[in-house]
Amino acid sequence: MSKARVYLVGTGPGDPDLLTVKALRLLQNSDVVVYDRLVSDEILEQIPPGASRIYVGKRTGKHTLPQQEINALLVKLAASKRTIVRLKGGDPFVFGRGSEEAEYLARHQVPFEVIPGITSASACTTYAGIPLTHRGLAQGVQIITGHCRADLPLDLDWRSLADPSKTIVVYMGLANIALICDRLMQAGLAEETPAAAIQNGTTREQRRIISTLARLPRDTCEQGLTAPVLFVIGRVVRLAGVLDWFRPGEISTPNLLPVQNRGQHG
Ligand SMILES: C[S@@+](CC[C@H](N)C(=O)[O-])C[C@H]1O[C@@H](n2cnc3c(N)ncnc32)[C@H](O)[C@@H]1O
Repeated sequence: MSKARVYLVGTGPGDPDLLTVKALRLLQNSDVVVYDRLVSDEILEQIPPGASRIYVGKRTGKHTLPQQEINALLVKLAASKRTIVRLKGGDPFVFGRGSEEAEYLARHQVPFEVIPGITSASACTTYAGIPLTHRGLAQGVQIITGHCRADLPLDLDWRSLADPSKTIVVYMGLANIALICDRLMQAGLAEETPAAAIQNGTTREQRRIISTLARLPRDTCEQGLTAPVLFVIGRVVRLAGVLDWFRPGEISTPNLLPVQNRGQHG
């Protein structure tokens, strides 16, 4: 029997058809799957019936399993199971704590592999009709977190972020969007800079708000957006009207590859 291995697998931000072929194969051959909140039901349906599922996300009124306990769980599972799949929304190495888990596994001599996923900065913007770069509009992209560890202020380099030639993508920014927009304007980014909010990107529930830097916090609040939300700030948002190709209501039934080892369900 081969040695146990932990696979840190990115699932993309929602649309199950954005799962990579490698991620799907691993999922369909898993012995145990550890997953959290941002992994969709359609993706979980790909887990074979014989495999165990362990949810480590937030339950109503309760907190997510602390990261230290998730790390320890993965090491413990590696002692008894062969193929352990740790599912992560988007990409495991983009604000996904995948690197913390990988570090812990490495320190405990547990073999692991990391399977990249499509991160929300790429997929949600694309499904919202916003290219991250566009000749003449944006020559680069700055990906930032809008959230800091508890009680710490959001201490970012606002001066270098306020660059009109670059697109800014904000993850986990819902609670701090007013502060983020204020700081960017104080650092010199124009009030009229186009800006967007995307809720539940790439899914049937996707919502998109097109606004400006000055109005974004108010629009986000008035429209009642709830997590997960991704913010995009920069001139590329101007293209959202022309490139608006995605119709959330018309999404077809997911057409994932057939499950190979599902027994009577296959
Ligand atoms: C903890 S981070 C995880 C990011 C993930 N590893 C990735 O690569 O996309 C969670 C944040 O990702 C963004 N996000 C993830 N999925 C999203 C979605 N379907 N729609 C909008 N934003 C999303 C939101 O900003 C959310 O607060």
